Amino acid sequence: MEDHSLPLILFISLILVLSECAAHDTISANQEIKDGETIVSQGEMFEMGFFSPGNSKNRYLGIWYKKISTGTVVWVANRETPITDKLGFFKVTKDGNLLILKGGGNTVAWSSNSTASGNGNAPVVEVQLLDTGNLVVWDKKKDTNRNLIWQSFDYPGDTFLPGMKFGKDFVTGIEWCMTSWKSPDDPAPGLYHDLVNTNGYPQIFGWRGKELLTRLGPWNGVGFNGFGIDIPNPIYSLEFVVNEKEIYHKYELKSSVIMRVVLTWEGKTEILHWIERIQEWLVYADASVDSCGRFALCGPYGSCSINTHPPCGCMEGFEPKNQQQWDASDWSSGCKRKKALNCGNTDGFRKIAGGVKVPDTRKSYYNVSMSLGECEMTCKRDCSCTAYASLDISNGGSGCLLWFHELMDTREYDSKQDLYLKMAASELQGQVVQHAGPNERNVLVIVFLLMSLFLLLPALAYASRKMKKRNYMKRRGNNGYVLDEKKTSLRMELLDNLQFFNLTEVERATDNFNVSNKIGEGGFGPVYKGVLEDGQEVAVKRLSETSQQGLDEFKNELTCIAKLQHRNLVKLLGYCVHEYELILIYEYMPNNSLDFFLFADKERSLMLDWPKRFVIIHGMARGILYLHQDSRLQIIHRDLKAGNILLDSNMNPKISDFGLARKFVGHDDIAKTKKVVGTYGYISPEYAVHGRFSIKSDVFSFGVLVLEIICGKKNREFTHENHGDNLLGHAWRLYKENKGTELICESLRASCIVSEVLRSIHVALLCVQHHAEDRPTMLSVVLMLVSESKLPEPKQPAFFTDEYFHGHKSFSSVDKQTITILYGR
Ligand SMILES: *[C@@H]1O[C@H](CO)[C@@H](O)[C@H](O)[C@H]1NC(C)=O
Ligand SMILES: *[C@@H]1O[C@H](CO)[C@@H](O)[C@H](O)[C@H]1NC(C)=O
Repeated sequence: MEDHSLPLILFISLILVLSECAAHDTISANQEIKDGETIVSQGEMFEMGFFSPGNSKNRYLGIWYKKISTGTVVWVANRETPITDKLGFFKVTKDGNLLILKGGGNTVAWSSNSTASGNGNAPVVEVQLLDTGNLVVWDKKKDTNRNLIWQSFDYPGDTFLPGMKFGKDFVTGIEWCMTSWKSPDDPAPGLYHDLVNTNGYPQIFGWRGKELLTRLGPWNGVGFNGFGIDIPNPIYSLEFVVNEKEIYHKYELKSSVIMRVVLTWEGKTEILHWIERIQEWLVYADASVDSCGRFALCGPYGSCSINTHPPCGCMEGFEPKNQQQWDASDWSSGCKRKKALNCGNTDGFRKIAGGVKVPDTRKSYYNVSMSLGECEMTCKRDCSCTAYASLDISNGGSGCLLWFHELMDTREYDSKQDLYLKMAASELQGQVVQHAGPNERNVLVIVFLLMSLFLLLPALAYASRKMKKRNYMKRRGNNGYVLDEKKTSLRMELLDNLQFFNLTEVERATDNFNVSNKIGEGGFGPVYKGVLEDGQEVAVKRLSETSQQGLDEFKNELTCIAKLQHRNLVKLLGYCVHEYELILIYEYMPNNSLDFFLFADKERSLMLDWPKRFVIIHGMARGILYLHQDSRLQIIHRDLKAGNILLDSNMNPKISDFGLARKFVGHDDIAKTKKVVGTYGYISPEYAVHGRFSIKSDVFSFGVLVLEIICGKKNREFTHENHGDNLLGHAWRLYKENKGTELICESLRASCIVSEVLRSIHVALLCVQHHAEDRPTMLSVVLMLVSESKLPEPKQPAFFTDEYFHGHKSFSSVDKQTITILYGR
């Protein structure tokens, strides 16, 4: 993903405001504002005057934040008719018309076309810039009743401010919508516009020219169906009004946060927050298009899911209308019923509980006073009705929304709004119609099923390669290595799965383990880059030759990894056993490991922007989930750390180093070990102190990793000037004080999406809770990351400070990279 998330600010930094010139509060009829003069709102929040955007030399009359030094423009008057010199001026006429004049006052560049109605009396015109950013023209005839003649909030540009209406006024015909700028240098209306479509039940659409790009699901009483960000939050409240005169959305700030919604010139609708401390706008949420965001991607009765590949499927009980097209990834013709409706009382409904973004409502009918029961009856009686839902999900649900056409543009989504699909009775037979079960569970089951499918694919690919490998082994024969009894059995076990290399081959590949080829030092020995005879690049891990322990670890790692195939795990290609030489051959990762970027200088750390880091967080979570939940084995990694997360050429994360993984069969998921192995800063308290480890120890390490990814500092090296907490304690403190954004490292600020970051921090804090039983499983972690449902409150994390360590004598040898502690009894 490209990094454009610091919109406009950078570009509009050239705004010229001549501060020594006069600033007005209000102006009255016949007064003029010259280029260089400004009007300032009473609370000094906003300022109006002439400016030049970006690299342009053209002059525009605009309104910008006065309090914010970056000069963020929120409204432009003469968007399409700039003035090319600095001689333009702004004037208010006697009857309340606003004019921008050029050429010495002879030519009108822009006019608000507004006039006071008069009613016999001569109007008394006053123009005022309000502290909301609204430029208003009053007629204050008789002190008491001021009449609004005109306001800039009725003519929004690319910015939607708190208190603005977004929708339609049926009386005046005014349509409140957002239009993007053409470019950072040109505020003229660009390609994109967002507006409220008032056909059927109102929805918000995003257009690119004449192409309908996106649909924000309809209002459900709490927020927009399909946009989880708007669930009630402490920052702003949302309002939706429908009556005969007008239909509009509006948001008002509840806190002192400065916030705006902008449609960028590239077509992204973003919610931005001003962060005073760092003096920057951060993207709080981004309604941009993911793979399911394209309007009606999957056609009628199709259902889109970002967790599957390809994303399109048919709703249950439906099948592709045109299988050939469908298979060729053309889903536009959508799906058809497997069993036709018979239009009578025998048709029933299938409830899709809360897991769906409801279909396009342009051709729907709604009634706010009908109950859900009446809604069902109405749909049942009408042959053309295809589905129904509750209109307003707040307060237990009320109202009725009915669909009468093919259902378009639905997707899997944790929306909390149930959809009832009309189905033939035979389709429903043998099935219990789902009753109000917990939504979470349904989503959980769906995601789990999808995930299993996802995990199956690599296994199939692996199976097809297996035959080839076998032949390779046969050809190779038995020469070149020596194995004792124990190791022979090891070899036999692995024979099917892994390629065997003899030492000569490995030596040739690594130029005899040349120091110049060394790319790292793992817990159990050095790692070299190598090139095989066929040109393939590999990573060669040479285990320390000496101890029997090493042999055990080696065997362990081999048996484990040989059976694991997942796109977020580093692939083991082969091995070499020669007398006491133990070597593993892995696929080579061109982009080094996560710590290489995270804890580096700014330049390198900038290479991992927030979208990439978010992908890494997700990928790690999926990789660990796979380790924990693989059907036959349950593997605990035990040494998850930034150095063990390798990055492929696309910066996708791959977990490496299973040397410490333990294999468990069945339910024995808590084990006690005499030997504590792991890395300081990542290991959980119960593991470090009592030697007890479980899948929750990995969850803990994962949480630490997520915090490190966000803050760009190592947990174990973290210090803070004001307190002695480690990173976990610091993150917890900020979380409690509602200042999570302060954890974000500097190089991330330009690219981050604050809501995603805050959610990641929240999930991470759940993972690092002191008691293992409080921590979520990896499955919950993955679900929490993909959904937008409310998260539980984390308890205090395990404070893992140096003092904590020193209190325990068992920590005798603390290696910088890896600690290996013998746990005395
Ligand atoms: C005012 O009216 C003129 C003439 O009809 C039109 O060209 C112009 O776009 C209008 N200005 C605005 C701001 O609507
Ligand atoms: C809504 O439903 C109620 C109850 O069925 C009915 O009385 C009312 O006329 C309906 N309103 C509209 C606008 O159709």
